[in-house]
Amino acid sequence: MREEEEISAAIDRVLLGEDAIAERVGKMAGEISAAYANVEYGDDGLVLIGVLKGAFVFLADLARRLTVPHHVDFIALSSYNRGETKGEVRLIMDSRISVADRHVLIVEDIVDTGYTLDYLRRTFTAREPASLRSCVFLSKPERRRIDVPIDYLGFEIPDVWVVGYGLDYGDRYRTLPYIGALKQEVYES
Ligand code: IMP
Repeated sequence: MREEEEISAAIDRVLLGEDAIAERVGKMAGEISAAYANVEYGDDGLVLIGVLKGAFVFLADLARRLTVPHHVDFIALSSYNRGETKGEVRLIMDSRISVADRHVLIVEDIVDTGYTLDYLRRTFTAREPASLRSCVFLSKPERRRIDVPIDYLGFEIPDVWVVGYGLDYGDRYRTLPYIGALKQEVYES
């Protein structure tokens, strides 16, 4: 099968198209820019911490729409196996920028059980930032196991496996420009 045929055979439906995504990300960037309007660029400026790999597309779009000065850094966590997670999160690559006394915004692709975001909040709180908030593109509230605050949220979605816009299944489909629901038989086979 050709690549495009294989992709369209695996996708059940498009949940969020490119226009809906762009509109929402623009609004989120506006909200965040307003909230951090008084933060100055420099050592105590706003630091966006993107969670690799899933958040790289969202972070790139969001950051380019911010009108406040900011730095960008990344952190990588252990990969996720649906059904096998027991809340154990492992740090694969740490961020480089020191966040002490700086305003930190964690940028995540999706919150599912909540364990990853909770781990990130605990990890960064221990580093004593001036403030700590989270910005998450998607949330699946039905799947939550731990209550974790999300300060800026793109969309709530149902309990389906989604791909595209940075999100993957087995490292595939990440660069699709839309959010698509994967066919159940693909991720449950
Ligand atoms: P949590 O710790 O269960 O909240 O899971 C968060 C991580 O699981 C995300 O950062 C994603 O890497 C992954 N994840 C959860 N649901 C999906 C999905 O539907 N598609 C792709 N990745 C997902």
